[in-house]
Amino acid sequence: MAMQNDAQYPLPPSHVAARSYTDPAQYSREFAGVFQRGWLRTTPLSDLPEPGDYVIWEELDQSIAIVRREDGSLCAWHNVCQHRGARLVAASGHCDKERFVCPWHGFTYDLTGKLRFAPMKNAFQADRIESLRTPPVRVEAYAGFAWICLSDDVPDLKTYLAEIGHELDWFGLDKFDVRYRFDVMLDANWKVVVDAFNETWHVPFTHQATLSDIVQWGKAHLRICDPHSWMTIPVKGLTDRQPDDADHRAAHITHYLAFPNTIYSNFPTHLQTWTIWPAGERRTHFIAYGMVGPVPDGLTEDQWAKRNQRDWEHFEAVSREDIGIINGWGTVAGSLGQRDYLFNTAEGRLTAFHREVARRTSDQAE
Ligand code: FES
Ligand SMILES: [Fe+2]
Repeated sequence: MAMQNDAQYPLPPSHVAARSYTDPAQYSREFAGVFQRGWLRTTPLSDLPEPGDYVIWEELDQSIAIVRREDGSLCAWHNVCQHRGARLVAASGHCDKERFVCPWHGFTYDLTGKLRFAPMKNAFQADRIESLRTPPVRVEAYAGFAWICLSDDVPDLKTYLAEIGHELDWFGLDKFDVRYRFDVMLDANWKVVVDAFNETWHVPFTHQATLSDIVQWGKAHLRICDPHSWMTIPVKGLTDRQPDDADHRAAHITHYLAFPNTIYSNFPTHLQTWTIWPAGERRTHFIAYGMVGPVPDGLTEDQWAKRNQRDWEHFEAVSREDIGIINGWGTVAGSLGQRDYLFNTAEGRLTAFHREVARRTSDQAE
């Protein structure tokens, strides 16, 4: 396995200022330096299976239409009418006539966001109205989801994901179904939420009843591959049943951060995955999905469905424990007692994450 020669905890301890979680200027820099310069996972592809299906994706103060075209490919564009800035499409749905009509003055766009008709067209400045279109957004389909990028300067998704993409490819996620989901608004900065899910040593405290007997949290093995990171976690009932030379993904929970805000917690046959969306310095939208692979050998469809239902309920219970801690942070975020946050070596993925955010936001300050 890729990690066997690496140290369990590859980075020294570090610290960051608590203020970096609540400072409005830092928050703005993160939008420009982090979220505009990465690939962001948006909606499951199963939400738009047919040509003409579209999803209106609204996070980060953006509204983006992701559309399935006639040839089956995806396109995406900013959901803003180019006449006077109205929201063009109000909600996700299906477009039969290949036309989107602005509710304000009737500017009419095709599936790709090109202006096809404007009432009183000749009364506009000709050079401004010709070839008008909603600004396009880069979109790629990968691992069961539509991913977008808000910049032209970032390499393609595969190149961006690099090692994380190689890791995820092993699972064949195109064959998994997105079967479960839940979302919740949290009273915390988005980085608190990323931090909360990228280390294991809170398990014996936060998850004493739900996880500490199952997950061998003290044997997590961290791997940093900037800007991303991942870890393997041995787990009862899986690791002990696999030969020593089994692939690390077959024998562990493998846990990935696709920088900045997409997390996977994978078993070989099914997984939970979530995205963490800033909604203000102290508000975060957390969206989790349960993905289920093909029925494993030796199980019936029904047994597999029951097992997945049980696992998802367990995941929700575990997440609620994390959410309690995270929302508790929100109640003291403005306290004069907030100083520096200390990361130990077992929190090396947090060190790497904050180092990357700092690198990308200090560029913005110049
Ligand atoms: S703002 Fe859309 S047609 Fe006027
Ligand atoms: Fe947790």
